Amino acid sequence: MTVVKINAITVPADSGDELARRFAARAGAVDNQDGFEGFELLKPTDERTTWLVVTRWRDEESFQGWLHSPAFGHGHRSAAERSGGPAPHPVGISSELWSYVIAGGSPGAAGGSPGGPADPADPADSPADPAGGPADSPAGPDQA
Ligand code: HEM
Repeated sequence: MTVVKINAITVPADSGDELARRFAARAGAVDNQDGFEGFELLKPTDERTTWLVVTRWRDEESFQGWLHSPAFGHGHRSAAERSGGPAPHPVGISSELWSYVIAGGSPGAAGGSPGGPADPADPADSPADPAGGPADSPAGPDQA
């Protein structure tokens, strides 16, 4: 069962952009890890200063495997450090690891197209019709 591991990183109010830059420089570092199913970096849009790194894993073992692997340390070192230079100061003030499993939900009308707005030209974004009704019947919230 997929497990969701969230690293909640609190940054000084004006440092969010730097955090985003550091993530952009390292996105992909975890892509080939066994059991890794993807992550999103979530930026707050209110006055909060806690950013969320929402990661998904096949199971607890695959997450723990990555957490204790050299790949984790490698992915968390900057390019400067990796080439023997000094470590830049961390952006975060503090971080917390939150652990969840998916206990319910819905893919929504755009189900099957994570990571982007619905594209009517993309068959994956067409609303599913599990009842197999007439293809031209209007589907709206007021239809029983
Ligand atoms: C749930 C899994 C993860 C854990 C437990 C974790 C752990 C940490 C910790 C403890 C920090 C330091 C926060 C601080 O400055 O207070 C950090 C920062 C960071 N992490 Fe992760 N991380 C996770 C996932 C990821 C992923 C998937 C990536 C992307 C490849 C990533 C890239 C980074 C980057 C770029 C920083 C900023 C480092 C800096 O301030 O220079 N992390 N992470």
